[in-house]
Amino acid sequence: MENQEQKSKFQQAIDVITGVAKITIGAGIVHCKAQDEQMDGRYITLEGQKKLFFGTCGYLGIEKHPKIIEAAVEALHSHGAQFSSSRAYVSSHYYEEAESLFSKMFGRPALVMQSLTLGHITGLPLLVGDNDAIIMDVQAHDSIQSATAMLKLRNIKIDIVRHNRMDILEDRIKVLKNRYQKIWYLGDGVYSMHGDFAPVKELYALADKYEQLHLYLDDIHGMSWTGPHGTGMVMNAVPYYHRKLFLSTGMTKAFGTAGGLLTYPDEEYFKLVKTCGKGFIFSIQLPPAILAATIASCKIHMSDEIIPLQQSLMAKIDYFNKKAEELGLLVIRKERSPVFFIGVGNPNVGYSTVLRMKKAGFFFNLSVFPAVSIKHTGLRITLSNHIQMEDIDELLETLAENLPVVFKENNTSFEQIRKEFANH
Ligand SMILES: Cc1ncc(COP(=O)(O)O)c(C=O)c1O
Repeated sequence: MENQEQKSKFQQAIDVITGVAKITIGAGIVHCKAQDEQMDGRYITLEGQKKLFFGTCGYLGIEKHPKIIEAAVEALHSHGAQFSSSRAYVSSHYYEEAESLFSKMFGRPALVMQSLTLGHITGLPLLVGDNDAIIMDVQAHDSIQSATAMLKLRNIKIDIVRHNRMDILEDRIKVLKNRYQKIWYLGDGVYSMHGDFAPVKELYALADKYEQLHLYLDDIHGMSWTGPHGTGMVMNAVPYYHRKLFLSTGMTKAFGTAGGLLTYPDEEYFKLVKTCGKGFIFSIQLPPAILAATIASCKIHMSDEIIPLQQSLMAKIDYFNKKAEELGLLVIRKERSPVFFIGVGNPNVGYSTVLRMKKAGFFFNLSVFPAVSIKHTGLRITLSNHIQMEDIDELLETLAENLPVVFKENNTSFEQIRKEFANH
């Protein structure tokens, strides 16, 4: 029999994921099926029962905006469900309008990709030169990590640093700066699990101090619900783009449609990716209906209509934070963000809590390995504009009643969990 030491790290990870999946799929925590014939965003029907839905990333709740639907339906009728060609040969005309609107919105060249994962895989390898080095935040999204893994084939130096630790980052820059041409810092804008933010001001200051440092940030979770015209958390934190910032984002979350978006400081990189990028040459393009919906959403973002949508969500975020604090719930890294992570530590505590809450009429996501490390399991609760203030009350009060029971059953406590997350 193979023992743990003989197994590769890859096989060990697969074994753990398979083990977690066996429990969570069996229990109806993941791989769930939404049975609704009509979705309203507030509720979701699972196993024949309506639950309040605290699991969407469509934070602004505009996926059923009449202008978005109308544009998509029109394009569906005029162009069909697909346009089956690589963009290297011919792009549907919708791309030109969408990219021109995004360029205006972001004030810099913007390239629409089929997804952000494909965007990272397409764009990142072209930015990083053979004499460059990478420093990546340990919590950078898996899609960035996958794109970075491809660079190992070119023997690119890759360092991983503790989450948002600017002191450690600066130490690494000092070590690498005389040996490498450019240093690329890779991280998220809004981190997808804990909903916390990259320290944009500090990163800009480091980019000013060290000429080699270039920033590559994925702000897909910051898109739409914050920043002028919904340009995101990075733009909200500092009202300009650093000349060495490569900002990637996407339309699959609060923007209400689909696809990834790469924005560049100048035309040079934009042209390089368009000419040599794998996703551009070898993958099929987005369907016309999605592009038409994206154009409609861009127009909403560029109008004043976006402002009350952002304000309404922000009021809910503030209410959630206040209520969670009053009830003593352990929200890890409290931010004004629609993603909340309530730490529970051990996966068994997570499984029991999600199941109890599901039974009580709530559905949200369990954040468990491989999304987070095994001892840092948590409840990943998201807010959308479909959710009402009274829904937040109901959710948090029910959670506050149930957590102590589950903790007791699993021999743990708030204090124990607080300690586990203290240096995380
Ligand atoms: C931070 C972050 N980046 C990238 C992605 C991948 O985006 P896409 O689904 O467009 O590939 C996700 C996925 O949800 C994400 O959370």
